[in-house]
Parts: sequence; C-alpha cells; structure tokens
Amino acid sequence: MDNTIGNIDAAGHVTGRSIYVDDIPVMEGMLFVKVFDSPIAHGRIISIDFSAAEQMEGIVKIFSYKDIPGQNQIGGIIPDEPLLADHEVHYRGQPVLLIVAENEDTAEEAFKEIKIEIEPLPIITDPRDAFAQGKLLSPSRKFVMGDVKTAFSNCKYIFEGQTESGGQEQLYLETQGAYAYPNEHDSVKIFSSTQGPTQVQRTVARVLGVGMNKVEVDVPRLGGGFGGKEDQASSWGAMAAMVAWILKRPAKCIPHRMEDMRMTGKRNPYSSDFKIGLDGDLKIIAYEATFYQNGGAAADLSPAILERTLFHATNSYHIPHVTVTAHSCKTNLPPNTAFRGFGGPQGMFVMEAAIDHAAKSLKVDPDIIQRKNMMDNGDELPYGQIIKECQAKNCWDEATDIYNVESVKKEVEWFNTQNQFYKKGWSLMPVCFGISFTNTMMNQARALVHVYSDGTVGVSTGAVEMGQGVNSKMLQVVATCFGISPQKIKLETTNTTRVANTSPSAASSTADLNGKALLDACNQIKERLFSFIKTELTDNEDEIIEIKDEVVYINDEASIFNWKNLIQQAFMKRINLSAKGHYATPIINFDKTIEKGHPFAYHVYGTALTIVTVDCLRGTYEIDAVKVVHDFGSSMNRSVDLGQCEGGIVQGIGWMTMEEIIYNEEGKLLSNALSTYKIPDIYSVPKTLDVKFLNTDGNDMAIFKSKAVGEPPLMYGIGAYFAIRNAVLAFNPAADIAYAAPITPEKVLMALYNPVGG
Ligand code: MTE
Ligand code: HPA
Ligand code: MOS
Repeated sequence: MDNTIGNIDAAGHVTGRSIYVDDIPVMEGMLFVKVFDSPIAHGRIISIDFSAAEQMEGIVKIFSYKDIPGQNQIGGIIPDEPLLADHEVHYRGQPVLLIVAENEDTAEEAFKEIKIEIEPLPIITDPRDAFAQGKLLSPSRKFVMGDVKTAFSNCKYIFEGQTESGGQEQLYLETQGAYAYPNEHDSVKIFSSTQGPTQVQRTVARVLGVGMNKVEVDVPRLGGGFGGKEDQASSWGAMAAMVAWILKRPAKCIPHRMEDMRMTGKRNPYSSDFKIGLDGDLKIIAYEATFYQNGGAAADLSPAILERTLFHATNSYHIPHVTVTAHSCKTNLPPNTAFRGFGGPQGMFVMEAAIDHAAKSLKVDPDIIQRKNMMDNGDELPYGQIIKECQAKNCWDEATDIYNVESVKKEVEWFNTQNQFYKKGWSLMPVCFGISFTNTMMNQARALVHVYSDGTVGVSTGAVEMGQGVNSKMLQVVATCFGISPQKIKLETTNTTRVANTSPSAASSTADLNGKALLDACNQIKERLFSFIKTELTDNEDEIIEIKDEVVYINDEASIFNWKNLIQQAFMKRINLSAKGHYATPIINFDKTIEKGHPFAYHVYGTALTIVTVDCLRGTYEIDAVKVVHDFGSSMNRSVDLGQCEGGIVQGIGWMTMEEIIYNEEGKLLSNALSTYKIPDIYSVPKTLDVKFLNTDGNDMAIFKSKAVGEPPLMYGIGAYFAIRNAVLAFNPAADIAYAAPITPEKVLMALYNPVGG
C-alpha cells in the first residue's frame, strides 16, 4: 500500500482547477432559478400575487406548486415535506415559488415585486414546547437494558440534571446547488452538489412523475457537505430539473450564502434530561436520559439522527442498567438535518455532562469516574451489540500516559494559583463511535471498473468526494489490487447511470462500502487476467502470480508480461476488461421492534486531552492544546486520515464553543451570515494539536483494515466545553453554569461574575 499518496485533489484545490457545479461550462440559453421563500414561520397562505413580477422583462415564468408535474413531495424518510408550499407555510425560508429568469439580477428584482398574504398561526421554536403539544415528527424511541428502577434504588449516589446543545450550520464552502438540462426521450441530466446522487435522482423522478431511468445525476465533487447535502441537496436538484424539464432549457439553481443559511436545516439542537446513579465505588450502575430533539418543520433525516443519539447515549462506558428515550419534536424552523456525527455528539454530550455533574458533586475529578466505567471486550451495549476488539481503555491509557495527564493536572492547578485573571482548565473526552448506517439496508455499494486497451483504468463508484479524501482511497484500492501506478488510474465523477442505487456518502462509511465494492470489481478483472496468464505461460495451476510495479511475476520471477502488454494481449484474446463490483456489509442487523441487534460493523475509539486558558476579565478563551490518541486501525492514508481528525476536532470545538445559531421567537434566523455566525478560524484553532495513531492491527470489516475516520474525531471537541467550564469554575467556584453548549465568550463572562463577587 502506497501510503505517501496524500490527497489527490490537493493540487487541483490550491490551483483552482477542481471543478464544482458552478464551474461546469453552461449551455446557451441557460435560465436562472431563484427561490421565493416564506417570510413567516407558520401560517395559512391567503393569497399570492406574482403577476407584476411575471410581467417583468427577463422573467420567463414563475412556478408555484400547481406547476409540479408529479408529486409535490420531497420527504426522504417520511413523506411530509412539499417541494413548494401549497396552502400553509411551516418555517421562514420555506420555498414557495420559483422565479425563472434570463439572468440573476432580474430574478432578484422580481423577488421584490411578489406579494404574499399569510394568516399567521402559532409558532413553536422550542422542542419541549412542541413535545408538550404532542407535535412529533416520528414515533418516539426507547432503548432499554437491565432495570433502571431497581438499580437506582440500590445506588449510593443519584444525580439529575438538564442539558442543552445548540444547532450548527454545516457551512460547506460551496453552497447548495444544481444545474440541469433537458435531454432526449423526455429525460433530464442534473449536475448536483449532493452527498446522495440517488436521493436527488429519486426525488426528481417523483417530482416530475417519471421513472428514475429518465433522471441522470452527476456529481463532480463537493466543496464540503458535512451532512448538509445528504438529503437537503435534493430540493435544489428538483427545482433546477423541473424548470429544465418543463421549459426545455438549461437551468441553474444555486442559492447565495445567506439564502442557503436561511433556507436549509442545521444540526439538530437538543434539550435533554439525565439521571445517573453510582455505587460507593463510583461505578455507574444506572443511567436514564430523555432527549428532546428539535427536528424543525419536517422529518428530513431527524428520525435516523434520533436513533443514532440513542446508539451513542452511553458513549464509551459500560453501564449495566440503561433506559434512554428520544422524541423528535416538530417546530417551525427549517427542517434540521445531518451534521457530522449524526446525533451521536448530542447523545454523548449529555452522558459527559452527567458524569461531570456527579464528579463535581462528589468532589472528585471526572476522569476517575470516566476511567472506572470504560467499556471493554464482552460488554453489552444498550442496543444488544457485544463489544469486540475494544480499544477504549487502550486509547485512554495511552493518552493519559504519553500526554502526562497527572502532571498536566498539577501544572494547571499551579498556574491557577499563580494567576488571578487567567485561569486554565482541562478535560478528558473519550469517544466510541459505531460505524455503519444504522439502517442496515443502506450498507451496500457498487463500483464499475474499465481497464482500457492501453492499460489505463477508469473507475466509478457510488462514493462522493466532498473533501474527505475518499477518491484518494479509491485510487489506492485500485493501484494496490492491480499492482499499477496511480498515474494510470482516473477517478470518474459519481454518476447514477454508471453506478446505480447508491447510498449517500455518509455515516463515515463511504470508503469502507465503496472500497470493498471496488475491490470486488478489481479482483474479478484480476482473476480473468491471471487465468489468461496461466493459459498463455504455464500449465501449472499452482503457480503464484503477482503484479508488482506493473510487472507480472510468476513464482517471484519476472515474466514476459508487464501490465501494458498483458492488457493488450488479453484484449486481443477477447477477455472482459470491465467489471461491476458489489458489497453489502455482512453480519450487521437491527430489529427495531425490540430495539436490539448488531447494527455496527465495528466501533472507532479514542481519547482527547484538552487544555484551555480563559481570560477572566474579558470572558474570551484560547484552546491551548488538544492531544489525542485515536484508533485509525491500520491507516491506509495517514495524511488524509490526519486531516480528517484535525478538521473534525476543530469543527467539534466550534459547535461546543463559538458557533451559536439563534432564531428569535418568530422563527427568524438572526445568525444569518458569516458576520453574525462565527466558525473557528486560524486564530481560534488549538495552539497545539497532537494526534497519536494508536498502534493496532485494524479491523477486517474496514477497507484494508483502515478504520472509518470521517465523523468520530468531531466528538473530541466536546472536551473543549468541559475544559472551559472548569477554567471558569477555577475563577468563580460559586458559578452556576448550566450544561448548555455552546459556551460562548458571552456566556463565559456571565458565569465568571455570576453570582457577583466570585
Ligand atoms: N471532510 C470534508 N473535508 N468535507 C466534508 O464534507 N463530511 C464529513 C466527513 N468529513 C466532510 C468531511 C461527514 S459528515 C462524513 S459522514 C464523512 O466525512 C463522509 O465521508 P466518508 O464516509 O468518506 O468518511
Ligand atoms: N448515518 C449517517 N447518515 C445516515 C444514517 C446514519 O446512520 N442513516 C441514514 N442516513
Ligand atoms: Mo455525515 S453527517 O453522515 O454526512
């Protein structure tokens, strides 16, 4: 395995040559599609008058729901979301009309001419309010293990509390968008910035009322998705496609940043209750939690996210008695959706808050409780899966050892005695994250490989490159399997006519699923080539054939064949040089009727040490260091994996500290631009960011034993919340700090001086 390949997209990105949807050369006569969205969060549409707008020069047509040829329905899991509002609107930013114009400026002008009258209805923005009124997006879920009731009655200590975690804007550099043009036989081709090409295809087919075979979706790459384009790319695809299909002209629908922020869903905020019970030895005996998920106005992916919250509710801990319940609450906000971690981080935050609360009450360091309750091989998770190849303690122990946690504790304490207006805090954050789509059916993938007669190779998979480096890993799979140079291999765009019925690139599983399907395809071609070599060169079936550096070896001796002439000869002999590979993850299963099974192929583990300094006059803070031991398995691409780890950590810190989504009571997004919504920049990243690769053999269910890495590191960022909280308490031990993230500088300042005189 060539581990020096890095990220094959790097050069294209820094030279500006990488192609995104908006870079695709457009055809003459292209139309611009602008969305007219609801200015009110909840109400009944009394009237809409767009006659003046439609009369404007340069306006081709204005579409409403009445113009939709097929179904006005884009809901992925539950059919509860119209593409264009019909009689009611359910959130501010909900698409109502499509303004189709010859150019963008005219579309902007027409927007102002549209008159809409809406009779207001009550607006709910808080998930607990929604729950109290019985407004749920999907049936509530409950995971049970053991018997919490009896267990609590046997606990020496019981603590209860409430937590809040906020939303998070995906803030992909490339906004949502699609470019579509009509094709012959009443078909349409769409270039889409989506993690789920098949989901766009399926949605467009439904909206147009045609078969999926009439809809081709092509994805060159994304300028980031982070979950925000797993399902929410579909509406933009459908809007562009509908216009192109009906008007028989190419059409582009790409929102500006502020439109994207206003109209699309974000990470689901959660409000949660916990109850934790410990024995005299600080073993956690019982844990109960109830999660109120803020789903927004339609289900989108929230039911699946809700489920992953329950799967990760006990993080890396073994707790014998657990009851966790989750409600997906319907509010008048844009439908919230996937974001790196997919509900896992929201569940883990509550667990860590419960442990922190117990530790503070018992006046012990939280890491005593964390380490004492860490899971191990043979432990059963609340959903029935038995832990194997557990690396939780290995990561923890190695982190506390190599990063010298005992002396860090002393140094922080010493610093805090020496400084009046600067205080340091630290935390340890273990992570255990399950790898697989929790919906077993989705764990499948396919790949298509063509070896051309000159020996070069074209590769298509269902994987979408969104910056996470999956194409680099796919290239490595082919180069390794065929024993050829990466220079000979081209990664094609992700396209539904070449690879069909794809699962979205998500759940950190893209490289595993598509890599294994790709390996299957390459192995089929290799087997055909090897049997051809045997018929040409040897009668002995037992000869060992290998291709190394494009030379064919037989029993370790170079043969007359190299890759190029082998392919030429094989082609002359009419050997099939193309193959379609398929992979479906074995073993995994889950029975929702009893909420038990073995949903994950494997788990990824790690531990992060976080150290911060709070400026106690200003309430600002710096992250001094995040030091991690992470279980990559046997990493097949160390620089891509390290990049994923670093990016995930910083994104997790952003969620927990500075990124604050604010809607007012009218459901209006106030943090609606990059001036009011702050994401981590080069100045706010940790001054030190160390990542140690845990030394293990890896797991066979992972591609080349290289474990999935996309999401798990994000949850190390939760450590930043607790480290900052601890630093504030060092300044003001009497501070009453809610377990509410993000812990923004504003909240820190309030806590430092509340109650006054701390
Ligand atoms: N990294 C970059 N650069 N851009 C992204 O959009 N998405 C994240 C993660 N890392 C993302 C990323 C999310 S949400 C997931 S699920 C995984 O990558 C998806 O890719 P993978 O399955 O190949 O890990
Ligand atoms: N993770 C990410 N995306 C998903 C999942 C999941 O488990 N299920 C459906 N979409
Ligand atoms: Mo990632 S949230 O599974 O796209």
